Amino acid sequence: MQNFDFYNPTHIVFGQNRLAELDNLIPADAKVLVLYGGGSVKRNGALEQVKAGLGERSVIEFGGIEPNPEFTTLMKAVDIVKQEGITFLLAVGGGSVMDGTKFIALAAKFDSEPESLLFHGFNPPPAKEALPLGCVATLPATGSEMNMGAVVTYNHQKYPVMSPLAFPKFSFLDPEFTKTLPKEQIANGIADAFIHVTEQYLTYPVNAKVQDRMAEGVLQTLIEEGPITYADNDNMDARKNFIWSATMALNGIIGSGVPHDWATHMIGHELTASYGIAHGRTLAIVLPSLLRERKTQKHDKLTQFAERVWNITEGSDDDKINLAIDKTEAFFNSLDIVTNLTHYDIDDQGIEKVVGNMEKMGLTALSETGDLDLACVTRILHAAK
Ligand code: NZQ
Ligand code: ZN
Repeated sequence: MQNFDFYNPTHIVFGQNRLAELDNLIPADAKVLVLYGGGSVKRNGALEQVKAGLGERSVIEFGGIEPNPEFTTLMKAVDIVKQEGITFLLAVGGGSVMDGTKFIALAAKFDSEPESLLFHGFNPPPAKEALPLGCVATLPATGSEMNMGAVVTYNHQKYPVMSPLAFPKFSFLDPEFTKTLPKEQIANGIADAFIHVTEQYLTYPVNAKVQDRMAEGVLQTLIEEGPITYADNDNMDARKNFIWSATMALNGIIGSGVPHDWATHMIGHELTASYGIAHGRTLAIVLPSLLRERKTQKHDKLTQFAERVWNITEGSDDDKINLAIDKTEAFFNSLDIVTNLTHYDIDDQGIEKVVGNMEKMGLTALSETGDLDLACVTRILHAAK
């Protein structure tokens, strides 16, 4: 196992009808900015319950944070924070609203140009403080409710921002609010959570047994409970397991002390930036081809994945690996996620554009060992046609 620090201060409040407890979690004299997206939180009752939970506190609303949140939109909220003397941010929505709120929390307390918070990749930006924030998560997918990451769109590119100052103080995970999700968002969330795990698990072995077995447990839970949630909107037991899987997939626990890949995410972000394809879907397009391309480098962990996650015991290692990748792709397809680029009208020229953008972004040495170059990205995308 590699050396690691594990730090996660987020208080999770899991379960139905708990928003009255907001009162215990936000200072009574706080001036609160409640942030949300395009209006789903009005339809599922989350906003109403949040306002009731905040009681007599002074509250201002900021709606309209779009999927793949735009820097310019977030800066409008930063202006309001400053003008109104806001002291607490409350995100109510999916990953985009939670991520956007994290960025607002950092930018509102940052003295220099806010753009300069964006260009630090997986290293922390030069922020010294942030406004406190909490979340009411309505879409299980990103893990944003319990991590320090945000992804912000700026000039048609997606930038990760990773700051320990951006951890939510608390996050409510109430499964009731997720019942208004369209089916395709459930599928996107299952794919996103699954691939958060594989980015931290399908690398090379470092004998991190707890992390490996927890990663395998999350993957198996997604394989079991994801399709039930997708098919049956009323199955609360399956949904709760799916929601907690998505949080556990990216809250730092399974990623402690192990190598990380993130190449699928970096390629996927470019597909979203250039073609507007939803985040989870981009990952499901890339992952199967990436795994086929990287079978040699990932041989040991892919064999373990085949045996322990997909219970494949027959045949050579190579047979097991091939079948495990096929089963993974079939799993995404079973959720009506199409895993080829042609379906999204992306041809050879489109692939060139994606690779060109990655070069501009400096994404030229990806993977757990930094050896996945743009020639390799090109092969992966051609194989995904
Ligand atoms: O805007 P509203 O009206 O709320 O509608 C949203 C949006 O249209 C809707 N939605 C959310 N909750 C709903 C609902 N509709 C009905 N009922 C509900 N309960 O779903 C649509 C998509 O929402 P969005 O927040 O964009 O989706 P998701 O949670 O998948 O977040 C995607 C964003 O997170 C970033 C992605 O890059 C993308 O920008 N990521 C953040 C990560 C992190 N913070 O650690 C890691 C991820 O890998 C990812 O990159
Ligand atoms: Zn993701």
